[in-house]
Amino acid sequence: MIQKPKGTKDILPSEIYRWQYIENKIKTVMENAGMKEIRVPVFENTELFSRGVGETTDVVQKEMYTFEDKGGRSITLRPEGTAGVVRSYIENGMASLATPLKLWYEMAMYRYENVQKGRLREFRQIGTEVIGTQSYLADVEVIDLGVQIFKALGIPNIKLNINSIGCPECRAKYQEALRDFIRPNLEKYCDTCKTRFDKNPMRILDCKEKKCKEMNQNAPTILDYLCDECKEHFENVQKLLKELGINYEIDSTIVRGLDYYTKTVFEFISEDDGLTVLGGGRYDGLVKEVGGQDTPAVGFAMGMERLLELFDKYNPDVAQERKMDLYVANIGDESNLYATKLVKELREEGIFVEKDICQRGIKAQFKYADKQGAKFVITIGDDEVRSGKAMIKNMETGEESEILLNCENIKEKLGQ
Ligand code: HAM
Repeated sequence: MIQKPKGTKDILPSEIYRWQYIENKIKTVMENAGMKEIRVPVFENTELFSRGVGETTDVVQKEMYTFEDKGGRSITLRPEGTAGVVRSYIENGMASLATPLKLWYEMAMYRYENVQKGRLREFRQIGTEVIGTQSYLADVEVIDLGVQIFKALGIPNIKLNINSIGCPECRAKYQEALRDFIRPNLEKYCDTCKTRFDKNPMRILDCKEKKCKEMNQNAPTILDYLCDECKEHFENVQKLLKELGINYEIDSTIVRGLDYYTKTVFEFISEDDGLTVLGGGRYDGLVKEVGGQDTPAVGFAMGMERLLELFDKYNPDVAQERKMDLYVANIGDESNLYATKLVKELREEGIFVEKDICQRGIKAQFKYADKQGAKFVITIGDDEVRSGKAMIKNMETGEESEILLNCENIKEKLGQ
């Protein structure tokens, strides 16, 4: 048997309604804040990600699904959404639209990762990108969207960690200080850290190796190196978060795995399993890097599989699958045509109604209706076709009554 590729997941009909429930909730939160949905291609020119996400990141170095297409172009399945959205913003001249441009998306992403709990190779993200404002107000609005989403889904035990990684100017000074700190022990660091020393020493702070973590313990913190503007920005973010009653902790080790971030970065972490469910931050340099005007922006993305797992844990009974309102059973050819027409009419009225399409006997039809959890069943034979009346059975109570076979009567009986 051919199996699905490692790190992918089938979303089955038996679980799709839970996905749809959380998607609808999140969509409402997004729309209430004026976010407009955008969809961008699954694949992009590889250069977009190597430039946008950053040559030295794990995502670009190790995790991209890159291939040459039949025209000899290097193509990559999107590993994240921000770069594609920014490309689309530039390419479609969206800078001329009302500012800020507030976008949201739900898209599948592809990363060649070590598959483990909460870490897939195809996964879905819902994200938001607010483009065109450098104000700390946008950072807080975006963070608050995250808070609202967890609240709307009834998911507790989520911790918000924030940090500022400064702008290119103050970060350069910090990186020098960090190199000075690491240099005496550089030989003892792992190979990955060694390769990051020159180009991206802050990622060394993100290393999960025990020995590297130990050596990093007394590393200087970026927060001591922020320039006045970055410092003020970060203080304003914190002040407003406090005023809105949004709890947070400062975690100066958050550097994030993508290179485009500037100033505020944040993560929402589940205290149950330590997994980051939502990650984001400001990226004031990306639009320019990808070829647009110098335009500030801020956003986040949340991992839907991780989110759904938490939703299932805390709200197993919240979302309900839509149940069939009515099954129209029929006996014989004449009644089949009659039932087919009736079902067509009822569907046009918005009723969830089914009938046999396998040309099966009445017993098998009832069995199907029962298995599918139909609320009512109407049985139509030759007599019923002639009289225009039939018996309708309430499948829950077993109660049967006669009904005139027209849309209005049936709808009333179904309580619709
Ligand atoms: P990210 O931190 O790479 O950020 O991913 C955001 C979220 O996607 C993670 O917190 C996690 O929940 C989920 N995620 C990431 N990788 C996987 C995986 N292999 N399997 C399952 N879930 C995963 C970004 O992607 C940025 N584009 C976020 C952003 C938007 N920043 C600004 N705007």
